[in-house]
Amino acid sequence: MIRSKIAGIGMYVPENVVTNKDLMKVMDTSDEWIQERTGIKERRFATRYKDTTTTMGVEAAKIAIERAGITARDIDFIVFATLSPDYFFPGCGVLLQRMLQMREIGALDIRNQCSGFLYGLSVGDQFIRTGMYKNILLVASETHSYALDFSTRGRNVSVIFGDGAGAVVLQPSQDENRGILSTHLHSDGSEAELLSMMNPGFHAGRFAENKKPPMPEKPYGGLFITEELVQKEDLYPYMDGPAVFRKAVIKMPEVIMEALSQNGLKTSDIKILIPHQANLRISQYVQRKMNLSDEQVFNNIQKFGNTTAASVPIAFCEAWELGKFKEGDLICLAAFGSGFTWASALLKW
Ligand code: ACO
Repeated sequence: MIRSKIAGIGMYVPENVVTNKDLMKVMDTSDEWIQERTGIKERRFATRYKDTTTTMGVEAAKIAIERAGITARDIDFIVFATLSPDYFFPGCGVLLQRMLQMREIGALDIRNQCSGFLYGLSVGDQFIRTGMYKNILLVASETHSYALDFSTRGRNVSVIFGDGAGAVVLQPSQDENRGILSTHLHSDGSEAELLSMMNPGFHAGRFAENKKPPMPEKPYGGLFITEELVQKEDLYPYMDGPAVFRKAVIKMPEVIMEALSQNGLKTSDIKILIPHQANLRISQYVQRKMNLSDEQVFNNIQKFGNTTAASVPIAFCEAWELGKFKEGDLICLAAFGSGFTWASALLKW
């Protein structure tokens, strides 16, 4: 049986460090509140006219490609996950293909928010398993800072997010006992708007029955930035934080257990769990619920905030650079986010 393995991994975060104290200069918040509720001490913000979602993805990709011992010309398929693309269309996949001067290969864009990297990993894994491709570049990159409400009104959302990118190269594994063991993907759209950015968008009143978020009086019905939207400053992400928290702490352990049981493994077999860095409290809750030790769970949200699709590969790359796992170790990746979508993957390194 052909399995896929991660042949190279890379990350890129912008140089601009933004501390909680920096945020206190523009909104009514405090270092204590942010650290206590989220664990975040600082995050990176992209530099205007220098970093975009694509350029950060390119930097992470260059490192992953070099570490895989190949060149950009060897890549035969691109998967790019983001919720913050450079353009509404075309997607970042082709922009990356152009910047890296790659061959005329397929480029697939994925928009599954916090679960985007794991959805991409699953897609790439299937293409390698079938023998269709030999070198797949999977990139996840986000630029949140260009689209957050930095007034006090948006503080429950804007203090959480950061910018950055991660990338991996997937190849067939020579050893059938090593590589990606399985991936598990789920969704439930019944509360899709609870973590969303709906404007500009086509609103036809077909929302979930829940009362949140506050809906426009009349549907906007278009992908235009209208004067009304600008006046109401209704152009920012919406998040019902407590609802997201409640669902995440149920679904993340569930999807991790699903991966373990499918492979006949148990929590004590996990060398390291790399969860989506949504919020340190979510990771700690999952850790407690699953009886995992501190050494078994890797977190770096403290330094980078929540980088949505990029958070798993950034944490994965940092854990690898710090030598947190070695050949033959069992690694579990898990994510939960907007959609809602959630996913997990088990890998033998
Ligand atoms: N600074 C200071 N006070 C704040 C801030 C802030 N940045 N944000 C909100 N508050 C205030 C609120 O106004 C509210 O004040 P009030 O009681 O006077 O009305 C109070 O703090 C509590 O607000 P809640 O929104 O209920 O705060 P909560 O304790 O739920 O914490 C948080 C908010 C951190 C977002 C939490 O709900 C959470 O962790 N949710 C999980 C969501 C998450 O992690 N999302 C990440 C993105 S999604 C993903 O990646 C899965």
